[in-house]
Amino acid sequence: MLSKVLTGTTLGIDAYLVEVEVDISRGLPSFSTVGLPDNAVKESKDRVKSAVKNSGYAFPAKRITVNLAPAHIKKEGTTFDLPVAIGILKAEGIITGETLADYLILGELSLDGRIKPVKGALSVAVAAKSLNKKLILPKYNCEEAALVEGVEVVGVDTLPELVEFLNGNLTIDTCRVDLSGYFHASSSGHIDISDVKGQEHVKRALEVSAAGGHNILMIGPPGSGKTMLAMRVPTILPDMTLEEAIETTKVHSVAGTLSPGVPLVTERPFRSPHHTISDAGLIGGGRVPRPGEVSLAHNGVLFLDELPEFRKNVLEVLRQPMEDGRVVISRAAVSLTYPSEFMLVGAMNPCPCGFLGDGHKECVCTPMQVAQYRAKISGPLLDRIDIHCDVPAVRFKELAGQSAAESSNDVKKRVNAARAAQAQRYRESGIFSNSRLTSKLVKSYCAISAESSRLMETAVDKLGLSARAYTRILKVARTIADLDASDAIKTRHISEAIQYRTLDRQPS
Ligand SMILES: Nc1ncnc2c1ncn2[C@@H]1O[C@H](COP(=O)(O)OP(=O)(O)O)[C@@H](O)[C@H]1O
Ligand SMILES: [Mg+2]
Repeated sequence: MLSKVLTGTTLGIDAYLVEVEVDISRGLPSFSTVGLPDNAVKESKDRVKSAVKNSGYAFPAKRITVNLAPAHIKKEGTTFDLPVAIGILKAEGIITGETLADYLILGELSLDGRIKPVKGALSVAVAAKSLNKKLILPKYNCEEAALVEGVEVVGVDTLPELVEFLNGNLTIDTCRVDLSGYFHASSSGHIDISDVKGQEHVKRALEVSAAGGHNILMIGPPGSGKTMLAMRVPTILPDMTLEEAIETTKVHSVAGTLSPGVPLVTERPFRSPHHTISDAGLIGGGRVPRPGEVSLAHNGVLFLDELPEFRKNVLEVLRQPMEDGRVVISRAAVSLTYPSEFMLVGAMNPCPCGFLGDGHKECVCTPMQVAQYRAKISGPLLDRIDIHCDVPAVRFKELAGQSAAESSNDVKKRVNAARAAQAQRYRESGIFSNSRLTSKLVKSYCAISAESSRLMETAVDKLGLSARAYTRILKVARTIADLDASDAIKTRHISEAIQYRTLDRQPS
């Protein structure tokens, strides 16, 4: 007997349809899987066999051949257990219902027949919708899949439960989620920018970064609050749209990093990988491909603390994802794409000892050591960081007696307004923030007056700013003008933007 069950598997963050064909014929008992399965899929045989037996069904002592089509794409992971088991039970005549073809089925089986969580459920649900199919999957992943509107999602806990359901002996309610509920439940706000005392100019720089989507590098001695500030950047970024939330959730669903009970990621991610991270850990890949930190930070913040401590080649591989907003990983047969639109927040000490320019503690580094330390950040990466900001140690007095600082929500309101102005201006340019302005677009959108031009010239001459700093300054000035609700870039916007180029100057 031959049977066919439909399932889906992920490639990057998108899912595609896989047909599981099961053929059972007379002959010496055997069980083989064809169609480019990986090891996890091959091991699936033992789980399927045990799960079927332990659920009280006879496992056929015949020749079983499972074909996974299309054959040219490698199948990875454990989600084929359930469709294979269902295929066998169908071919054996234990499943008699006629509704099987309406569903995409996926799930991992445990030996006793329980159905265990899978990765990538949200992506498969999107595929099910486009194929006009319903979806059966582990109960655990139910809510995550039900986020996709218009797909009927059935969650199951055990193999016998599913058999009874397919035979029409058991009804299971389709899973529903109320999206608005999740959005209101979020913005919990346990951390807030007002936790940081003083440092008004750093908060301002972060606000400008958030408003224009600019990457930022904070430079300051240990203990000055860089990490604390960076962690609060997501709280001043605009609230996520549903589309962004779904895109980000897809990545975390595929990576298996969704928190239990939180099917939708509604808060912007904050990822801070340690400086010992590998290339694959940062940008994705590996034997069984997985999204890297740049993708887990999609629509959020990637924080690289102690930037010069990262290995140089690791920082170099960051370039492409920063440029393209996505990562492409090439495999033998296919290439996978993971999105990676993130805001980079970097932090570093001003010099190896950390106290250059501190005013309280003496720096013990030679100019040579300082130069070498800074040279560790490659030019091309530095080139993609629009804003540099000094973070001096705050005085004890400032920490102790401070009037109430502005809350993240207050800052966010201004950021939202500036983003709205950009969305309006760039609605036909294919970009959405000032940080994405190309040199051509800079020419059309960042015109400056003669007075501002002179200021720029002076800055370039006197402060020894590099030529590449010029475009960065214009983009940032554009954002500052947007925060100021000003169509024109004025001289005061330019002069503020010039201050954000610390590293272009000679170390003092
Ligand atoms: N401006 C500040 N306001 C409140 N607390 C601060 C401030 N700066 C530093 N701190 C305190 O000092 C600790 C160390 O700050 P941290 O962010 O780790 O510094 P850095 O990353 O620059 O070494 C923080 O956890 C916080 O308790
Ligand atoms: Mg720190």
